Amino acid sequence: MKNTKLLSASSDHDISLCAKVIQDGGLVAFPTETVYGLGADGLNADAVSGIFRAKGRPQDNPLILHVSDVDRASLLYSDVPDVFFKLTDVFWPGPLTLIYKKSPVVPDVVSAGLDTVALRMPDNPCALRLIRECSKPLAAPSANISGRPSPTNARHVMNDLDGRIDAVLDGGECRLGVESTVLSLMSDVPVILRPGAVTPNMLCAVIGEVDIAPGILNPHDDTTPALSPGMKHKHYAPDADVYVVSGDESEIGIKAISAYDEYQKSGLGCIILGSIENEALYAERKNHVLGSRKNPESFCAELFSKLRLCEEYDVVLCEALPMDDMGLAYMNRLLRAAEFKVI
Ligand code: TXA
Ligand code: MG
Repeated sequence: MKNTKLLSASSDHDISLCAKVIQDGGLVAFPTETVYGLGADGLNADAVSGIFRAKGRPQDNPLILHVSDVDRASLLYSDVPDVFFKLTDVFWPGPLTLIYKKSPVVPDVVSAGLDTVALRMPDNPCALRLIRECSKPLAAPSANISGRPSPTNARHVMNDLDGRIDAVLDGGECRLGVESTVLSLMSDVPVILRPGAVTPNMLCAVIGEVDIAPGILNPHDDTTPALSPGMKHKHYAPDADVYVVSGDESEIGIKAISAYDEYQKSGLGCIILGSIENEALYAERKNHVLGSRKNPESFCAELFSKLRLCEEYDVVLCEALPMDDMGLAYMNRLLRAAEFKVI
């Protein structure tokens, strides 16, 4: 058991202490604008192996290297396509992870044996400062036990990883609440492997065309290889049975309460995660508000932390959103948390 220190992301002294821990091969969780990451020296294979052990992460699921500037990032690829600079000019620092051919300096454990590597520059002053002080790229997956909802505050990290890692830098709540958009640059038309706050429309405006991997909204089919190994693993699931409640705005609230009443009748403890628009309708029943249906960003920001609040219930009924813009990122996470159970 490690004695996990809870430190402050607003203290330069604490950030320096954490940089030292990482340079010595240790593990530090830190805030980003998306979710908390669990960082290790990305060029130290032993340190990176520690991430897999601490999270219980399957060995075949590669990690993102977090960088603090574009020029040093480009040294981690074996060569660099023009589209990389077009995208980083507009979206870095920010929630966009780019995948391309890896340089031999990147240890195989980072890329889980693939010949590509994922890079991202986070838009968070503490994260950037930590990376600069380490003067290494930081390998960092989300700082949760594998399979659980990603952590959007330091308490979530401590709940999952206390005793397994060296320190947590507490920087408050993450602004976006869902992980970065993952974009592969390996084909002529880049492919979105995971949707996030950098939406298909935003990418098209800069590079003209993008494809969306079918795995984003469908369960992984074991007969074909996953484009992104993360697609095939269990994800985001709280310790409760989650169902997606589908339908348009006029009927979704009624559908949620009738499912709620049926599950309650059969003796199961239920809770609804829904919109502010339906709050009055849900008032007699257990519920949490995710946000406004007019603002999918608000649903994204709350989803993981509200799922973690539902673990004392048997059944969680959660409103679906249209898949436009950030609604796509929301539905990708929700469908996985629900193991694709839709009512
Ligand atoms: O916002 C984020 O991206 C957060 C913060 C901490 O930066 N990180 C994060 O990391 O979500 P993780 O490990 O939880 O998710 C990374 C995803 C996984 O689905 C993984 O399979 C995929 O990116 N990935 C990483 N490297 C890849 C590669 N070379 N090829 C295909 N997919 C890759
Ligand atoms: Mg993750």
